[in-house]
Amino acid sequence: MRLSLRFILPLLIALALIAYGVLPLVDRLTLQWFERDLDSRSALVANTMQEPLVDLVRTGSKSKTIAYFNRITQDERLFAIGYCDASHATLFATKSLPRELVCEDLTLFAGGPPRLLSSAKGPLHVSTRAVMADADLLGYLVLVHDMSFIQRRSDETKKYVFYFFVALGAVVSLITVVIAQLSWRGWIQGTRALLRGEGLLRPAERIVVPELQPIARDLRSLIRELGAEYRPRDESQLSWTPDTLRSILHRDLKGHDVLVVSNREPYVHVHAEGRIETRRPASGLVTALEPIMRACSGTWIAHGSGDADREVVDRHDRVGVPPEHPSYSIRRVWLSAAEEAGYYYGFANEGLWPLCHIAHVRPTFRAADWEQYVAVNQKFARAVMDEARSDDPIVLVQDFHLALLPRMIRERLPKATVITFWHIPWPNPEAFAICPWRAQLLDGLLGSSILGFHTQFHCNNFIDTVDRTLEARVDRETFNIFYGGKPTSVKRYPISIEWPTSPDLIRKPVEDCRREIRERLGLPAEHAISIGIDRLDYTKGILERFMAVERLLELEPQWVGHFTFVQVAAPSRSSIGEYQNFEQQVRVLADKINGRFGRGAYLPIALRIEHHEPVDVYEYYRGANLCFVSSLHDGMNLVAKEFVAARDDEQGVLILSQFAGASREMPEALIVNPYDIDQCAAALHVGLTMPVAEQRDRMRVMRALISEFNVYRWAGRMLLDAAAMRRRGRLAFGAGGATAGRNAA
Ligand code: G6P
Repeated sequence: MRLSLRFILPLLIALALIAYGVLPLVDRLTLQWFERDLDSRSALVANTMQEPLVDLVRTGSKSKTIAYFNRITQDERLFAIGYCDASHATLFATKSLPRELVCEDLTLFAGGPPRLLSSAKGPLHVSTRAVMADADLLGYLVLVHDMSFIQRRSDETKKYVFYFFVALGAVVSLITVVIAQLSWRGWIQGTRALLRGEGLLRPAERIVVPELQPIARDLRSLIRELGAEYRPRDESQLSWTPDTLRSILHRDLKGHDVLVVSNREPYVHVHAEGRIETRRPASGLVTALEPIMRACSGTWIAHGSGDADREVVDRHDRVGVPPEHPSYSIRRVWLSAAEEAGYYYGFANEGLWPLCHIAHVRPTFRAADWEQYVAVNQKFARAVMDEARSDDPIVLVQDFHLALLPRMIRERLPKATVITFWHIPWPNPEAFAICPWRAQLLDGLLGSSILGFHTQFHCNNFIDTVDRTLEARVDRETFNIFYGGKPTSVKRYPISIEWPTSPDLIRKPVEDCRREIRERLGLPAEHAISIGIDRLDYTKGILERFMAVERLLELEPQWVGHFTFVQVAAPSRSSIGEYQNFEQQVRVLADKINGRFGRGAYLPIALRIEHHEPVDVYEYYRGANLCFVSSLHDGMNLVAKEFVAARDDEQGVLILSQFAGASREMPEALIVNPYDIDQCAAALHVGLTMPVAEQRDRMRVMRALISEFNVYRWAGRMLLDAAAMRRRGRLAFGAGGATAGRNAA
């Protein structure tokens, strides 16, 4: 394609030049040259005829004069000759003289510029010369030349010029193609050779003359610096859409295998009312990654957790999703009840989850759970091996359920690029130290090429934890960790959501959403609605939120009967005792507040502990006056971003916990400490009474942030970094094997 462009383009340019430049020029020039030629020819002929003509005119013989003229016009170019006397009257002329040439006119032009006439034969050149006899004017000689030969010559010349330029264009195109090919190959080979230290010396000399190696090393580091400079610039110039991501995959990671691995699957198939339904689980991880997979296709390996999951997969345990327009596959991994209990409920959710979140819930570590955790990570590693189509796939490992997987992949596929993203906070080294298997977990994660967290604070905590726990080299300048082989780059990638928001989710007008929510809850018009949307999890600060509502009603009683807090809580991890207790506490507190401030049908808290599909959640986002995100600790919290994205009316107030990663990015929200109940109650009152203009100003800034830093940018940045790492790896690998490879990143 590129080759033919290089050939055809110069050729087309040459043809355009010929048609619009060269040929008209040739025409003009030939005409000018021949006109000048005919002028001097006319002068010559007139001079030669002067004497015989004077004699003939003096004899007064018309027939002899015309016979003389006829003899001369045998010249093929001299078309006609005429003679007028000095009184502009008598005309002796050959028969061929055009009728329109009459003496009165002709003599006016004597000695002047020639006239051009058109005739049936073609263009004619008319020149009039004075005939003198002994210094007296005798008459005028009219010489008419046929110019059609000029046209013929010009056509011939044009034909040759045309062929000449086409041939020239073809030769130039050919030379361009050859030079481009040679110089590109030469440049690549030359650079490669130089990077291997061969460019400056012959292979045999390479070992013998090591003093030239530093030059190659310098060049290597220069290329690395240029690459590093180029990347961020390139990134900021992009506007991040599904197409941008697709083109990164196409341009920078062409033909590479991309796999996503997580515990939670993006679509769950369940039996409901005698048929199989597809559900979207409540999970920040799924919210973020699902649009990425839709944009880029590929395979997502995850635990098949739905009770109808096995019924819809093919013989390779795969199912195409989204159900309406399948664009990628889920490869389901099956877990036994014992595996799920030990790995998911036990080690991941009773151990790591409370370990990483400061919610004052004590982590529980059991050796049996750990064994299941190791075994299930191995099971996922086998699934990665099954799904990988090459020996160097890019594997995106997600979250705390799969901390051992990166090392397991690295051992089986040493050339793979493993990008691990930790979706939850990373604790400080003292907190992490209580985990009996801390070293194994860190070792597992350090099998990653890139390890991402939402905030710099979590990156710092991780680096400190490694420094305290392992014998590893930690480079605090580049945030690379060198531990047993390839380095791991630790980096901040704040996660986000799909932008622009899917039209299906924001189609219903805000007013309709509000009216329908009020109707559903039996609330009057003008009743203020606040919402909380979460998984029913003790880290989300749901109790603190309710306490703040209670305090608001105490401090600002005018809200009693005019304000309802709708809490949508998706049941989550409900076989864990801590979660069952928590649900109980939430129900009890809601009842207590409703008992205290409820009036007839009016309840200040509407608690909905049930699964909601995204379209229903967005109806709440759009219909609410206020959204309260009060997490006690949260990696990012995508509910905060979804609420902002849902409000294309630029109205609505967000109250956001200072302990959610999102608060770093959206300080225009009302930022609160969820443990400070009075402060949260005050924020509720401020939010409910905030002027429309202020709501708009805050919303606009937050929406601009999400539009720029959307989930495509989150994934794109990681993929670009992975692509750069692979390029560097290839260069460094060629430049001297493992040692150079270790130092390269
Ligand atoms: C958090 C975790 C995710 C998890 C989600 C839902 O956002 O980071 O990995 O998927 O909670 O929890 P669940 O246990 O239902 O998957």
